[in-house]
Amino acid sequence: MSKVTVVGAGNVGATVANVLAHKDVTNDIVLLDIQGDLARGKALDSWQQAPIDYYSSKLRGTEDYSETANSDVVVITAGIPRKPGMSRDDLISTNAKIVSSVTTSILEHTPNPIIIVVSNPLDVMTYAAHSVSGLSEKRVFGMAGILDTARYRAFLATALDVSPKDIQAVLMGGHGDTMVPLPRYTTVAGIPVTELIGADELDAIVQRTKKGGGELVKLMGTSAWYAPGAAAAQMVESILRDENRIYPCCVKLTGEYGLDDVFLGVPVKLGKEGIKQILELDLNEAEKALLDTSAEHVRQVIEVYNKMSA
Ligand code: LAC
Repeated sequence: MSKVTVVGAGNVGATVANVLAHKDVTNDIVLLDIQGDLARGKALDSWQQAPIDYYSSKLRGTEDYSETANSDVVVITAGIPRKPGMSRDDLISTNAKIVSSVTTSILEHTPNPIIIVVSNPLDVMTYAAHSVSGLSEKRVFGMAGILDTARYRAFLATALDVSPKDIQAVLMGGHGDTMVPLPRYTTVAGIPVTELIGADELDAIVQRTKKGGGELVKLMGTSAWYAPGAAAAQMVESILRDENRIYPCCVKLTGEYGLDDVFLGVPVKLGKEGIKQILELDLNEAEKALLDTSAEHVRQVIEVYNKMSA
């Protein structure tokens, strides 16, 4: 039976563990936090939900990395969240240290895990975890695209008054204001979205999506957790069930889309060994230009990280 570790028992980490438990894809979920009692408490609370929601996945909380030994998948959510007025990039100095030390501690007990990074600034923290770990780029990647696409789909569902289930979409780029929702690849039950909504309204939804995380920070004074947690749990599910689901994830590009050596959100096939394939779409010039701008922004923040850790 597979084992999953979630590092960080804050709102996002606890939601990942809780949503994952509901999926019954693993019988061993370890929720680790430097505040061991917080992790123990949230794991116990989730376990007490099992008789109500009918799942068997066992959860335990700890502060002790030895309990994470031999994990198949590790989800890193540790770090500080945004406060109103902050961009994700403002978190870099604090979260880079946390993500690097978490990655090192995980590897002491599990030599070859699949690591899903959720901490912000997402693309750069994924880069950091990958470089600190020395693992294959197929095994270290980030959660952002599922969340950003979900926000886009949710806004569209509201605007069109249809079920979110029927909205399919692709979104690429970094997890920030430069992300690239792709209306040309958005359908509603197979119908191109452009046949159902006017260009201005669609553009307003694209713009709202780009700032979707910030909208929630403004409302709540901290960043979101339900959709981010569920998105990471969905990635774990595709891996453990070897489902080959196609999701936008933050991965290292080595020539795809004409981009090299940068971590960026693109559609991938996700299964047992991690990233099985990066899908290359035939972007038009305008879409490619937006993706290039997003890559450039991520590169600049990677540069800041590299200088900091030199
Ligand atoms: C958000 C944070 C998790 O987009 O980055 O809500």
